[in-house]
Amino acid sequence: MRDESGAVIRLEDYRPTDYLIDRTELDIRLDRHATRVRATLHLRANAAGRPSAPLVLDGDELRLISLAIDGRPAAPDAYEASPERLVIHAPPASPFTLTIETEIDPTANTKLMGLYRSGSAYCTQCEAEGFRRITYFLDRPDVLSVFTTRIEADRDEAPVLLGNGNPVKAGDAGGGRHYAVWHDPFPKPCYLFAIVGGRLDKVADTFTTMSGRRVDIAVYVEPGKAGDAAYALDALKRSMAWDERVFGREYDLDVFNVVAVSDFNMGAMENKGLNIFNDKYVLASPETATDTDYANIEAIIAHEYFHNWTGNRITCRDWFQLCLKEGLTVFRDQEFSADQRSRAVKRIADVRVLRSQQFAEDSGPLAHPVRPRQYREINNFYTATVYEKGAEVIRMLRTLIGEEAFRRGMDLYFDRYDGTAATIEQFLSCFAEASGRDLGHFALWYEQAGTPTVTARGHYDPAAKVYRLTLTQATPPTPGQLEKSPQVIPISLGLVGASGADIPLSPPATEGHAPGVFVLDGPSATLTFTDVPEKPVPSLLRGFSAPVRLEIDLEEEDLLVLFRHDSDPFNQWQSAQTVATRAILRAVAGDKRAADHRMADALRHFLAMRAASDPAFAAQVLALPTEADIAREIGHDVDPDAVHHARRLVKAEIGAALGDELAELYGRLTTREPYTPDAAGAGRRALRNACLDLLAAGRPAEGEAFALHQFRDADNMTDRFAALSVLSHLPGTARETALAEFAERFRDNALVLDKWFSLQAMIPETGTLERVRGLMSHPAFSMGNPNRVRSLIGSFAMGNLTQFNRPDGAGYEFLADIVIALDARNPQVAARLLTAFRTWKMLEPGRRALAEKALRRVAETPGLSPDVADISGRSLS
Ligand code: PHE
Ligand code: ZN
Repeated sequence: MRDESGAVIRLEDYRPTDYLIDRTELDIRLDRHATRVRATLHLRANAAGRPSAPLVLDGDELRLISLAIDGRPAAPDAYEASPERLVIHAPPASPFTLTIETEIDPTANTKLMGLYRSGSAYCTQCEAEGFRRITYFLDRPDVLSVFTTRIEADRDEAPVLLGNGNPVKAGDAGGGRHYAVWHDPFPKPCYLFAIVGGRLDKVADTFTTMSGRRVDIAVYVEPGKAGDAAYALDALKRSMAWDERVFGREYDLDVFNVVAVSDFNMGAMENKGLNIFNDKYVLASPETATDTDYANIEAIIAHEYFHNWTGNRITCRDWFQLCLKEGLTVFRDQEFSADQRSRAVKRIADVRVLRSQQFAEDSGPLAHPVRPRQYREINNFYTATVYEKGAEVIRMLRTLIGEEAFRRGMDLYFDRYDGTAATIEQFLSCFAEASGRDLGHFALWYEQAGTPTVTARGHYDPAAKVYRLTLTQATPPTPGQLEKSPQVIPISLGLVGASGADIPLSPPATEGHAPGVFVLDGPSATLTFTDVPEKPVPSLLRGFSAPVRLEIDLEEEDLLVLFRHDSDPFNQWQSAQTVATRAILRAVAGDKRAADHRMADALRHFLAMRAASDPAFAAQVLALPTEADIAREIGHDVDPDAVHHARRLVKAEIGAALGDELAELYGRLTTREPYTPDAAGAGRRALRNACLDLLAAGRPAEGEAFALHQFRDADNMTDRFAALSVLSHLPGTARETALAEFAERFRDNALVLDKWFSLQAMIPETGTLERVRGLMSHPAFSMGNPNRVRSLIGSFAMGNLTQFNRPDGAGYEFLADIVIALDARNPQVAARLLTAFRTWKMLEPGRRALAEKALRRVAETPGLSPDVADISGRSLS
C-alpha cells in the first residue's frame, strides 16, 4: 500500500517535469494473475526542467521484471526500483529510451484502479493516478505522449481486444493466443490510456462527421446484453451531432468505442476513443430502466464524448485544474440535455442536484474551492464542487459576457490550446480576449469556497414611481478561508406587476449586459428602477443565474404571484418550493396546520392550468423539498426526526387537500400506450407518479390500492418502481409482498436489484438498519462491487436522514464499520461513503457528539488508506 498520507501537494509548488515522454510503446500480455507489460518510453530532457536531474518515475504496487536503457540491460547501480518508484540516477544524453518490464495481477486488483478484472473481462481505469499501477511512468497530466499499444490474450478468453486510437493490426500469436495493435496519433496524458479485453457483444453503427469522415462507433457489453445498449448508441450519435452543431467540434479518430463494465468506481471514463462505463449508465430496457436512468445514460454518454475536446484534446496541466475539464464538460452535457428535453425542467433538476450535493459540501468541513490549492489525495476531489459548481461558474461566465462572446471564447480556447495541458488562467484569458472584459475579479469563483448569501430588500416609492432594490452579499468562512471577498454575481431579474406581466425595466440591465442581467460585484449595491407604475414583486435570480442562497422578505402572497405568473419557469418552481419550505419550517416549529389553504388553492389552480400542457414541469412543482433541503435551511442544531415529521405532515395535508384532483389527474394520465423513453412520455409518467406519491401521503388506503395495482400492472420500470417506492413508505404486508415479488421477478438483474436495495435502505423507520444488515447477506449483494455497496450502504447513509442519524448513533457506527472494512479493499469507494458525514456539524448536540465519536474511530484506525485518512481528517477539522 502506498503510504503518502502525510504529503500535501500544493498548487504553488507546480513545476514542469525534467523529462518528457514523446512516444510510448506498450506490449501487454494479458493473463489473469501474471500480466506482463513491456513499456518502451522514448524520453528527452525537458527544456523547462532541470538539466541532468535523476529521472523519477511513478509506480504503485508494481514489480519490476527487467529494465533496459537505450536497449541495453541497466546496470544494478544505475537505478533503484521499489513498488512505488523507479529512479534512474543519471539518465543518458537526450533523447533516450527506457524499456521497462513489469508484472501485475489484475485478479488481485480490488481497488479497481489500473488493470483489473470485471466479470470475465479485463479493463483499465487510469484517472487520476492508475496508470502507475500498470507500468512506471511520469504519471501526471502535463506529460503528453503518443501511445502505441499491442495487446495479446487468449483468443478464447478475450476475443475482443480494444485500445485507444485506431486499430492498426491484429493476428494470431500462436498457442491459442492472438493480438491487436492500436495506435493513438493524439498525444495524451497517461490518465486517458485504456485497454479492454474480453468476450463481449456489441451494437455498432457509423457516424459521418461534418467534414464527411466516416467513424465506426460501437457499444460493447457483456454477452447477451446487446439489446440493452441501443439507447446508449443512439445517445452517442446525438451527442456527436450536437457538438458539431453547437460548438463546432468534430470527432477526430476512425473509431469510437464505449465499453460497459459492471465493476467501476465512478460513473464513466473518457479514455481517448475508448470510453469505459459503469454498466448502470449504458444498459437500459423499458422493463429494467426508469426514465431517470434513460436521462442519466444520455447525459453521461454525452459527457464522456464531449471530453474528447474538453479534457482530451485540451487536458489539464495538473490536477488542481480538474474543473477545467470537468466543470466545462458538465456545463456542455447540461446544455445538451436541455436541448434534447425541456430546458426548464433540466435546469430545475440540475439545481436540485447542485443544492443537495454541492451546497451541502460547501457548508461543512469538506468545503473547498472549485480549484483547490492543496490536496492529499486527488481521488477525493472528484466532487460536486469541482463538477457542479464548476459548471455553474461556466454558466455565469456565459451570462456575463453573452452567448456570442462565449462562443468566440470557446473557439479561441480550442484554437489556441489544442494539444496542450492548460490552466484556468489560460481558459479565462480566451474569454477576456473574446469579450474585451477584465475577468480578474470573476476568477475569484475558482478560488473562494463557500456559498454566498445574497440578501435582497425592495422598497417602492409610489409618488416617484421608483423601485429600489438593495442587494448585499456575504460568504461564510470555510476551512482555511476565514475572510471572504465579494464575488461577481450575475443576477437575472424581472419586476412582476399585479397582472402577472413583467414591468419594463429602466435601466434594462447593468451596463454592457443582456436585458435583465444585473451584476453585484461589491458587498452591496442598490438598483434604482424608474417609471415603475405599481408596486412590483421582484423575481430574482431567474434561471438560477448564480450558485448562491437568496434571502428575500417576500410575503406568501408575493410568492404566489410569482408561482402563478412569473415568465421565468425556474422562479415559478422556486416560489412554490419556497412556500412549501416555509410551511415545513412552521411545522418543525410545532405549528400543527402548517400548510395553509392558499398553498393548496394555488396548486389546484396550477394543476388545472398546466398539468396537461407541461406535465414534466408540473411533476417538479409537486415534488416537495427534501428532508436534506429543509435541514440545510435550518442550518444548525438539526433534529432529523423533527424535520421528517414536519415534512410528512405538510405532505399529508397537501395530499389530503388535493385528494380529488390528484386521483382524477392520476386516472387521466393513465394510458395503455406502449412505453417509449422520450421526454413527453417521461413527463406524463413523472406527473402521474407525483400524483400517486402525494395521494398516498394524504389518503394512504387509496394510495396503497392504486400503488399496488400500478406495481403489478406496469409494463415499464418507471411506473413499477415508482409504485414500489410509494409502497415502501407504507408499512404493512402490501409493501413486504411487493418487495418480495420485485426481487423474484428481477433476481437475475443486478442493476435492478440495486434499485431494490436502495429503496429498502431509505425506508424512514427504525427497523431499517436491521433490514440493511440483513440485505448485506443477500446473495446478490457483494462488498466487492461498487454499485452494490453504493445502492445499499450509500443510500442508507446519504438518502435516509432519520435512520443514518438515529439518535442512538447506531447508523454512524454501522457506517464506520463498513468504511473501515471496505478501506482495505477499495479505498476510493470507502472514502466516498465516508463523506456521508459531511454535514455532521449541523446536527443537534446529541447526534453531533455521536457522529464525531464514529468519525474519530475511523480516523484512529491504523493503516488507513490516504483516501479515508484524508476524508476523516478533514471532516473532523
Ligand atoms: N473523468 C471521469 C468523468 O467525469 C470521472 C472519473 C474520474 C472516472 C476518476 C474514473 C476515475 O467523466
Ligand atoms: Zn467528466
